[in-house]
Amino acid sequence: MNDANKAFSSRLGGITGIFPYEAEIKHKLSDLSNHFQDERLVKDMLSRGENPKIYDVYELPQLATEGSLNVGCTILHSGKIGSEYYFTKGHFHQKQSTSEVYVGLEGEGLILIQDRKGEVACMEIKPHIVVYIPPNTAHRSVNTGDSRLVFLAVYPSDSGHDYESIKRTGFAKIVAERDGKPVVEANPKYRES
Ligand SMILES: [Fe+2]
Repeated sequence: MNDANKAFSSRLGGITGIFPYEAEIKHKLSDLSNHFQDERLVKDMLSRGENPKIYDVYELPQLATEGSLNVGCTILHSGKIGSEYYFTKGHFHQKQSTSEVYVGLEGEGLILIQDRKGEVACMEIKPHIVVYIPPNTAHRSVNTGDSRLVFLAVYPSDSGHDYESIKRTGFAKIVAERDGKPVVEANPKYRES
């Protein structure tokens, strides 16, 4: 594929959301086993050999140098673990001053954006919507629809990913199906840092 120091273009759409791409990162339920509320259900599913795909990320060429940008396309599959919709792990950036932009391409969902105090902003994402994710916030996407959620992410190449901080506390909010509709609720397992 292309050298990240040279101009290139990629086409949006298709199975991978963007093509061509350089790297593909797949996440199955076993990769998020401690993230969902119903840990017992996850354990039972995995012990039965049920390990559904949760989300895939397709990345364009990346540099880890200041001033360059990374572009990735996330495909978050549709489904639930119990009543909780599929979501991405969520992360802070290691370089806390860095922000990010998401552009909705297919499907519908919510982006949970949580600051260091545990305050959560909940933004809708779907085609024709751009979501700005401010610095020093953890961000997680949730697919609340019955088809895949696809969005493009653009972020500074040197931002890095910190998955551990938010994994320790969890997000303060969860998104669950109640009476057939997505509802944002307080996370009973949330641990203030
Ligand atoms: Fe990010």
